[in-house]
Amino acid sequence: MNNPIDSVMSGYTNLIRRGRNFVCLCPFHSEKTPSCTVYAENNSFYCFGCGVGGDVITFVMKIENLDYVEAIKFLADRAGMTMPEDNSADSRAAYMKSRILEINRTAARFYYNVLTHSPEGEKGRRYFAERQLLPKTITKYGLGYAPNDWYSLTNFMRSKGYGEDELIAADLCSRGKKGGLYDRFRDRVMFPIIDLRGNVIAFGGRVIDDGTPKYLNSSDTPVFKKSMNLFSLNFAKKSEEKRLILAEGYMDVISINQAGFENVVATLGTALTQEQARLMSRYAEEIIIAYDSDGAGQKATHKAINLLSDAGVKTRIIKMEGAKDPDEYIKKFGAMRFRQLLDRSGGAIEFELAGCRNGLDISTDEGRIEYLKRCVKLLADISSPIVREVYIGRISDETRISREVLFQQVNSTIKKRADQNKKREWTEIRTFQNEFKKDPEAYRHSKEYKAETGIISFLAAYPEEITYVASKISPDDFVTGFNRKIYAAILEKSKNSGFYDILSLQSEFTADEMGKITEIAVNSKDVNINKTAVDDFIKFLKDRADNSQDVNALSDDDFRNYFDRLKKKK
Ligand code: UTP
Ligand code: MN
Repeated sequence: MNNPIDSVMSGYTNLIRRGRNFVCLCPFHSEKTPSCTVYAENNSFYCFGCGVGGDVITFVMKIENLDYVEAIKFLADRAGMTMPEDNSADSRAAYMKSRILEINRTAARFYYNVLTHSPEGEKGRRYFAERQLLPKTITKYGLGYAPNDWYSLTNFMRSKGYGEDELIAADLCSRGKKGGLYDRFRDRVMFPIIDLRGNVIAFGGRVIDDGTPKYLNSSDTPVFKKSMNLFSLNFAKKSEEKRLILAEGYMDVISINQAGFENVVATLGTALTQEQARLMSRYAEEIIIAYDSDGAGQKATHKAINLLSDAGVKTRIIKMEGAKDPDEYIKKFGAMRFRQLLDRSGGAIEFELAGCRNGLDISTDEGRIEYLKRCVKLLADISSPIVREVYIGRISDETRISREVLFQQVNSTIKKRADQNKKREWTEIRTFQNEFKKDPEAYRHSKEYKAETGIISFLAAYPEEITYVASKISPDDFVTGFNRKIYAAILEKSKNSGFYDILSLQSEFTADEMGKITEIAVNSKDVNINKTAVDDFIKFLKDRADNSQDVNALSDDDFRNYFDRLKKKK
């Protein structure tokens, strides 16, 4: 199949040639500098930023959200090939999927027709009218009503020739005790969930009155994974906006959309997942979280902020007063005021700082002290000194505690954390201990091995730092043979360009060895070694020659102390 990965990927991101390979902004997470490499030679890619990687098929599966067979079909279509039909399990599964999608579409049309054109639909029509949905919104979202009957959909679908197994697989019907099928959704207004290709993949159904559960959602089916999809992304995707509004539920999304904001989505009856955060980061640089104003909504906001910032997107949070959710807010105050809410939404820091006050009475001394403690912890998380300074000023004004004292507290927290991190880095590198068993040399020189591996990990994560590292340490300072060989090869590769790809070491190493190297590269993300740590590793390797003490006889803690002594000596 003629689908070179660079040609496929260039449909999603701009590729920049770098030697035989390409680099690009990773299409799976939001970033400003390219950390994704495309290896034209072996038709693969790897993102050093978010760790996603694989061959051209994996790429298509991930980016188009397809399964293996669908991805192959996608690529075949792209290359202008037709796929032979066969009866393998894969193609049976693909057939089942296409049947379920057809069933879902037919059911959505059924519910919609009931809502808009039938006498039983009156209940649903009244419900949506009360909630002030316009007919055009109902049509746009293809909303519907499931009659208050056990068999209406089942009978309808049977009459269209669909089989029991596939109706159950679509999760629209269930099998009763006596073996017969019955409708899963009854007397509920229906929200079809539509994916980016316009397929109806699932449903949410809301009770008309106070029954439970308030919302019934399709379970995961062969065409639906609730953790991987977002409600209304099919519309939001088309909006020109660089920011995306994240609301809590179906009705909020529809209400916000009806008020003129196309760029709004919600999760599907679960808390935000990592996959959804990543998905959003592909369509927006900034997410405005518009969750409910109650305690649960604020807790969920806190979690969402963390997930989204892990996915590399900026977050803003709306501060809604006088309404429990965006739907109610828009009804009470109108679309204009909602837009102001969006425009005045604050950053994540502001949100978190405000949260520090929760449950505290700031007018008492104890309350104020606890509040300050929480603020200091939070401020210590901020990496930019300028931003830190701004918020220190704000809190100092608010609490009438001097800036100097706050500043000191924050700095000592930062320092304490750095020390803890350093301690952890050394411990984490011990995860390579398994390797020791296979490599007697690594075992004998375990400390050196850790330091060397640390340096290589760092270089895998930050290849651009090779010039710096190269100026500090030579392969001769490496004690264990394999690591020395890796480092020498990296130096060689980067000699001319000051840059290299860890996977380009392929030419130098066996497949087994490459496996180990890739493992180090992949681990480098988790170990998260910073420049200070690398300086320590380098110093350790350089110093060991001058020092006769047998460092391997030391415990980890003694080793760290020894290390600190060495540092002071210089
Ligand atoms: P809400 O209870 O806030 O619902 O739950 P809502 O969307 O604002 O709906 P209205 O305005 O009360 O009609 C938020 C979301 O949580 C999920 C649904 O996705 C809902 O939209 N949910 C809630 C469920 O999946 N099941 C439930 O029983 C309740
Ligand atoms: Mn709500």
